[in-house]
Amino acid sequence: MNMQGKKALILGIANKHSIAYGIARSLKEQGVELAISYAGPALAKRVHPIAEELGVDLVYECDLSKDYDIKNMISLLAEVWDSIDYIVHSVAFAPSADLNIPFHHTSRHGFLTAMDISVYSLLAVAREAEMLLHPGSSIITLSYYGAQKVVPNYGVMGIAKAALEATVRYLAYSMGEHGIRVNAISAGPIRTLSSSAIGGISQMQRRIEKSAPLSRNIEQEDIAKTALYLLSDLSSGVTGDILFVDAGISIMAY
Ligand SMILES: NC(=O)c1ccc[n+]([C@@H]2O[C@H](COP(=O)([O-])OP(=O)(O)OC[C@H]3O[C@@H](n4cnc5c(N)ncnc54)[C@H](O)[C@@H]3O)[C@@H](O)[C@H]2O)c1
Repeated sequence: MNMQGKKALILGIANKHSIAYGIARSLKEQGVELAISYAGPALAKRVHPIAEELGVDLVYECDLSKDYDIKNMISLLAEVWDSIDYIVHSVAFAPSADLNIPFHHTSRHGFLTAMDISVYSLLAVAREAEMLLHPGSSIITLSYYGAQKVVPNYGVMGIAKAALEATVRYLAYSMGEHGIRVNAISAGPIRTLSSSAIGGISQMQRRIEKSAPLSRNIEQEDIAKTALYLLSDLSSGVTGDILFVDAGISIMAY
């Protein structure tokens, strides 16, 4: 696996617990040049020190619900990079009022917001970045088992993840003719800013420790290692796939 000198755009670092941070660190260790973006001004004071630690100069504020922000980020990037080898989309959002409630109480606003930020943003970034992508470029996003089975409290995010997984397949098809690959990692639960908005994660993790084939929960590094595989040439024949990194819990019936 030679990733030395490749260029990766990382979306979704909020702090050091972020899955995107773990992936960025591993890419850095492989000699990949990074550009990172963060959602809004409130995160600037957390993300800039992380960028400094990772030796990243290219740091953009980009609210992925805004086409203008996405266009602006990609055009600023195009001034310094003539191509992008990897895109890591590690972004999701649903209003807290629409989580941890009976699913049929989900508001129209919550539903559309979850779909916009957690799903459409992948498509929007892929489209905007198309001019910088090339045969061999690889895009990954992050999903969760709640896309495929009901997970209590996950509600509208489960619907968004199901749409995200379908988006991965359709993007893999439409970008495949240009040699661009698109895949998702379906990660087991780990503690982050986003996951702490979903009630019951500690109980879920305790259950996984007892029931998963590997008898443990996954860590940031487990996801990062699979990200390296999916981004690099090691997975050159893999696209449109949803790869589980969950210590095996999703193969269990009970
Ligand atoms: N933590 C888990 O247990 C788990 C499991 C499976 C999948 N995932 C997925 O992994 C991805 C990363 O989540 P995480 O757990 O690292 O949490 P996180 O909170 O660290 O990352 C989520 C990121 O989304 C960003 N974001 C939200 N709204 C945005 C917007 N409008 N524009 C730009 N960025 C925006 C946040 O700023 C944050 O950086 C998400 O897609 C999440 O659903 C997480």
